[in-house]
Amino acid sequence: MTDIRTRSPRPRAIQLWLYAVAALVVAMVLVGGATRLTESGLSITEWKPVMGVLPPLDQQSWQTEFEKYQAIPQYRELNNGMSLDAFKSIYWWEWSHRLLGRLIGVAFLLPFLFFLWRGFVPASLRPRLWFIFGLGALQGAVGWWMVASGLAGRVEVSQYRLATHLLLACLIYVAMIWTAQRCNATNAAARPPTPVRIRFSAGALVVLVLIQIYLGALVAGLRAGYVFNTWPTIDGGFVPAAARLFFNAPVWRNFFENALTVQFDHRMLAYLIFVCTLLHAFDVGGSVKSGAIRVGAFALFAAVTLQATLGILTLVWHVPLALALAHQAVAMLVLTVASVHAANAMVGQTQRFPSPRIGEVREGSFSGRLAKSKPHP
Ligand code: HEM
Repeated sequence: MTDIRTRSPRPRAIQLWLYAVAALVVAMVLVGGATRLTESGLSITEWKPVMGVLPPLDQQSWQTEFEKYQAIPQYRELNNGMSLDAFKSIYWWEWSHRLLGRLIGVAFLLPFLFFLWRGFVPASLRPRLWFIFGLGALQGAVGWWMVASGLAGRVEVSQYRLATHLLLACLIYVAMIWTAQRCNATNAAARPPTPVRIRFSAGALVVLVLIQIYLGALVAGLRAGYVFNTWPTIDGGFVPAAARLFFNAPVWRNFFENALTVQFDHRMLAYLIFVCTLLHAFDVGGSVKSGAIRVGAFALFAAVTLQATLGILTLVWHVPLALALAHQAVAMLVLTVASVHAANAMVGQTQRFPSPRIGEVREGSFSGRLAKSKPHP
């Protein structure tokens, strides 16, 4: 029997909207990575959520912006003597990153309000979508909190804040992909249930990938990829000396502030994810019939293999811009495949978001008011 949802165009509209905004989030992460790698992130020293949409439009405004940049430690210690043209090129990266952030806010909010007005959004989905919007607003503030850490007393942003900013972007992205997948209009009820073990491991892999992305941002923020450029050994061994790994006191600080420990952790977690995705693919291959879940498990293993290879090359070749960007882009690919796969494994096992049935109207909606005003035959 055909599920009523497959006949409604509305879940599809919500799904396409969420996928489109999620694609903008990926673009945002990539522009953010390029902004960091080109050392452009501190070129705009103020946070003006509305007026900042306008870049400097004349020579005088450019000069004023440049003077503000010249007042921060990064200019004095790293870029002293920089030309106005060179400043403009770093400014455009940061400005584009912030503009894209505003665009994502608008691309989320306007269609969302439209869907609410038309009564397209089931009540069970509304709090979740408002929550995602709230996370997006929080991300703007976290971005500024990160930039602020590099404006005084240091020449770069705090690696803690950089990693928080990237992790939050990824959480927003996963929430969108997950929600979009669960609006899926195909008839998942026809599929035999996925074993609990597979569902659990698919979900756990998403969590491991998110932790790995957080660690990757710590590596990037500490510039830990520019040192210890050997593989598979690091600092002279497969496992470095404990005295060097836990050099700082208290011990916990090494996991966030010691370049050797942070890079070592990023490697070790990569190996763990590689082994887990391989075992998961074998497990799925032997116990699941659904084509989508089998393809997802194998695609995840392939993406992780590619990502680990890119990571190793980025490291041993001392972080060339193109490879570092590719490593960041493929991290988003790994996260996408892991999230879609986990959502697929779980769809049909728990409640999906119900869509309004054809002809059904919602209280307070435009179509609801319209229906009330018409006499029933
Ligand atoms: C599942 C596997 C992996 C994932 C998901 C991953 C993810 C990431 C992410 C998200 C970043 C931060 C990029 C940024 O903020 O610009 C990063 C940085 C980095 N990763 Fe990985 N990584 C993986 C495996 C590896 C491996 C195996 C190595 C090397 C042995 C490696 C070496 C590096 C290096 C050197 C950086 C810093 C690059 C820079 O400074 O821009 N990664 N990784």
